Amino acid sequence: MSKDLSYDAVMARNGEIMKEALGFDFEQFESGSIAFDYEGLMDAVPYTFDEIRDYQLAHGVGNTPLLELRNLTALARSCAPEGKGARIFVKDESCNVSGSYKARRASTSIQHAKAKGYKGVIAATSGNYGAGVASQACMSNLKCIIVQECYDSREVGQPEIIEKARACESLGAEVAQLTVGPELFYYNLVLLEETGFFNASLYSPLAIAGVETLGYEIAEECKEKYGKYPEVVVATNAGGGNLTGTARGLKRAGATDTQIVGASVDLSGLHMASDEQFNKKSFTTGHTGFGIPFATYPDRSDVPRSAARPMRYIDRYLTVNQGSVFYITELLAQLEGMERGPAGNTSLAVAFKVAQELPEDAIVVSQETEYTGAGKHILPQLTFAKENGIDVRVGDPTTEKEIPGKNIILPEHPSKVFATDLDVKKTRKSVIKNAVKHHKVDVVNKKDLDFLAKEVNSDVEFVKNALDELGIKYEG
Ligand SMILES: Cc1ncc(COP(=O)(O)O)c(C=O)c1O
Repeated sequence: MSKDLSYDAVMARNGEIMKEALGFDFEQFESGSIAFDYEGLMDAVPYTFDEIRDYQLAHGVGNTPLLELRNLTALARSCAPEGKGARIFVKDESCNVSGSYKARRASTSIQHAKAKGYKGVIAATSGNYGAGVASQACMSNLKCIIVQECYDSREVGQPEIIEKARACESLGAEVAQLTVGPELFYYNLVLLEETGFFNASLYSPLAIAGVETLGYEIAEECKEKYGKYPEVVVATNAGGGNLTGTARGLKRAGATDTQIVGASVDLSGLHMASDEQFNKKSFTTGHTGFGIPFATYPDRSDVPRSAARPMRYIDRYLTVNQGSVFYITELLAQLEGMERGPAGNTSLAVAFKVAQELPEDAIVVSQETEYTGAGKHILPQLTFAKENGIDVRVGDPTTEKEIPGKNIILPEHPSKVFATDLDVKKTRKSVIKNAVKHHKVDVVNKKDLDFLAKEVNSDVEFVKNALDELGIKYEG
């Protein structure tokens, strides 16, 4: 008898389908409450760090250049107080085979799918990850399906997402292009069940382990060439895997004192699931619309427990306005001869600001770039924004607040690049609040307290204070 494909029936089979499609039993790491064994989950990746690294190097991934941006550093110094202006570096992740760091995130899943005898892989993503999976699958002779949320209900697509669909298809993947809405997850499940393919989830421990090589390389190269680990590494943050994997890799290499800074484009006020607002944003990732919800409740992903948990590592989190990221993109091209895509330039805009606070001998690394061209480029993006009623102009985003969905303010001078700190303490409290809410606990037990302290990169005292404020009881 054929299976019931109604929405409710498929969603009810979620756990079963995912278990089959990942070959991973998440249950063994559960405590029955808020806490789970995160490090145990990461250790369950059946490949050593060196095996992952060797596999990546054999498949066009990793060993990307770490470049010093001397002209951008000089410009930052010209805007900074006397004696300030750290050296700015960028890890040129566009040199990965699929044009972004997402090749690292994809490679370990493909390594595993191949080893376990799956015939193909499926990934639900509208981003660079699709190209990463398609490219790695292609090299390993696996079939590949990418499920994308691509259009609004008029079937108008954001230029960057359309470009990413093109890239996946050109790499041999079949691309299922959907309109905005809850169908994405449903359709992904149907395809996984029908094909028996591997779920190359962005959020599995395999994916995050693949990104660790990125942080490791940064630490290793800085130490070797400059005699120290970087003072600051800035990572663009959306679903949190980029930052999590990079931070874990830095720590694995010994860079335990490096400050980890998250960076997201400020899209506050725009609703990601809104059909009407879908095409009002000029950035399709690395923005607060993903960054905040995923940071404060990481398990909203497509696996029972996400391995991407950025608040475990974030020391500081800044947002930047859209116009400032476009502006930095131009600066990178015109001062450094590097034409690169939007997500990496989000962290670069923040690195440009943070460098101005630090002494000249400090090192700030923007940890990635991505390829650009077609719909990823500034020109189609700004044209599309104008077509969607956005007022694009030059001004001062430090005094006039850019309103996402209404205007884009390109800074009139490098000193007007705008990035501002999010209240990390507040974000940590939201992590605690959401964890308690989703697990429906009345009293937080001792194990949960320790777990939550790690979840928010703080201590048990902080968790207890937050719980007191929320009026939630705890043991001990
Ligand atoms: C090039 C690039 N950088 C950064 C990010 C953000 O990564 P994450 O979603 O893991 O935070 C993405 C995700 O789409 C990306 O494609």
